[in-house]
Formats: sequence, structure tokens, C-alpha cells
Amino acid sequence: MSATREEPIEIPTSWHALEARPLPGLVMVLGATDVGKSTLVSHLAKRWAEAGHALARLDGDPGQARLGPPTTMTLEMRISGKALCRRVFVGDVTPAGHMLPLLVGAAKLVQAAREAGAETILYDTTGLIDPRQGGAHLKWSKIDLLRPSALITLEKARELELILTPLRQRGWPEIIPLKAAMAARRRSIEERRRGREAAFRCTFEGATRLVLDLRSVAVFPAANLDPNRLVALEDDRGWLVGLGRVEAWDEPLRRLSLWTPVPSLEGVRTLRVGDLLFEGRSFRHRRAAARIA
Ligand SMILES: Nc1ncnc2c1ncn2[C@@H]1O[C@H](COP(=O)(O)OP(=O)(O)O)[C@@H](O)[C@H]1O
Ligand SMILES: [Mg+2]
Repeated sequence: MSATREEPIEIPTSWHALEARPLPGLVMVLGATDVGKSTLVSHLAKRWAEAGHALARLDGDPGQARLGPPTTMTLEMRISGKALCRRVFVGDVTPAGHMLPLLVGAAKLVQAAREAGAETILYDTTGLIDPRQGGAHLKWSKIDLLRPSALITLEKARELELILTPLRQRGWPEIIPLKAAMAARRRSIEERRRGREAAFRCTFEGATRLVLDLRSVAVFPAANLDPNRLVALEDDRGWLVGLGRVEAWDEPLRRLSLWTPVPSLEGVRTLRVGDLLFEGRSFRHRRAAARIA
């Protein structure tokens, strides 16, 4: 999960100027899938934190999350020796069909970082840039809402042009174009899925059974509580306390039995039902069929 990659990475010369000078404010890293966004963010975060900069890192990709389990987005920061970690649940491994939770979650995390006094927020975004899937609108909306001071763009062949054209015309935010590293490589759908499975397995390691009384914890958006459904335990501000996996739901008694790494229900106010189902006892997962409860 916290895949702080220790293997040597290729550092193109165009990255050198950036490493040396931490950029202030919200810095969004934009690019298609597998162009090396997360690798660049890990690298810059390390360099900029070494320079003593009050740096927050926002992992905004629920599909290939680096700082938290799949289906979530995470803010990590350390300021004056104090660590802060906040996490939100998106409910699925793709932004498609979850744009609002993704956008609102990102806004909450950015606000939390700003309130905590981050000088720089380095935001690793999802690779959804295809306008036919709403990718362009998602990026424009994020930029309008969050008002980043800079965009670092990673491209192979000008694939961000459609998104960047109106931004250039506006004159903000500053755009810092980088070429994707030659070593950035496409991963197959199967490879990504296996990566997520391993991350879920690691998240649920040591999980125990908790029984919730659903008269005291509200379930939303709908009580689709089939066995093996992924759910999120959230606190009074909607921050993620931890993930859970449904074991059994006794509707007449309103008792829900969950597997979860969360040790107790202290601070848990709501249970947000995700869109993924695990298969059997494994961590293979698929999107559950839509159903109105
Ligand atoms: N600069 C680099 N040096 C070496 N390997 C890289 C580099 N950038 C990306 N990769 C490799 O390419 C793959 C995709 O990179 P990743 O950073 O996860 O892309 P993205 O976040 O854009 O989807 C990973 O296997 C990663 O290790
Ligand atoms: Mg990534």
C-alpha cells in the first residue's frame, strides 16, 4: 500500500529544476494512466520534505492508491514534527460514476491541508483524462474548485492538449510541462487488479469481526449489505475510520456483522456502502450490480 518505491527510478533532466525548488500552494500532477504521476509525486515529496518544507501529499487516485487502500483518497502531512493523516472513501476503484464523492473528497482533503498550514500540497490525480468518460470535465472542475497554483503535466504525446487549451487562455494556473520518463510503463488491467487485491489483503490483515447495531449507526446511500460487500466506517466529519467487509446482515434484528481492521466502533457515526463486492473469501473484487434498496 504505502508503496514508497525503493527501486531506483529514472529521473529525467527536466525534473531537476523542480526537485531543487519546492513549489508553493496546491500543485496538481496531471496525466494519463501509467505516465509516472505517482512515481514523480513520491520523488518530489521526498526531495521537498528533505528541504524542510511543510509538505502535504494528497493521493487522489482510488484505483491505484499509494497511501491508502484502493477506493480511498489520502492526505498525509507532517508539520513541525506532527503527523496528520486524513482519508475519504470514494466507494469504487474508478472515478467513473463517483465524480462527486471524488471531487468533494479532494476538496475536503485540500482544505484540511490548508487549515493545518501546509506550504505545499502535492496532489497526485487519477489518470482519467478521456473526455468521452468525463475526464476533461473532472479536471476542469477540480481546477476551478480547488484553484491550484500550478499544474505539473506529464505527457507522452500531447494527450492533455484538450484539457490545457482553455487553461492557457485563462493564464492560470501555471503549467509546468514534463515529458513522461522513458521507464514509465503500461500495466495490464490484470496487473492493476492484482495490485489492488494485494493492497486489500494487506488492509484486512488482522481484521476481526465487529457487530454493529444499525439503530445507532446510519447506513447510506442504501442498505445493500450483501455478504462480502465493501463498506466504510466514517466519523462525524465523514472521514474514513476504516474499511469493512460485510459478513452477515440480520435485517429483522438490524445487526450487521463485519470484518474490519478497525478495533472498535468508537467515533464511528455512519456506514457508507461501497460499490464493490469481494469474491468468496478472496480479495478479488468486482463492481456490484446497481440495486435500489
Ligand atoms: N521515472 C520512472 N522511473 C522508473 N520507473 C517508472 C518511472 N515512472 C514510472 N515508472 C513505472 O511505470 C509504471 C507506472 O508509473 P506510475 O507512477 O504508477 O504511473 P501513474 O501514477 O501515472 O499511473 C510503474 O510500474 C512505475 O514503476
Ligand atoms: Mg498513480
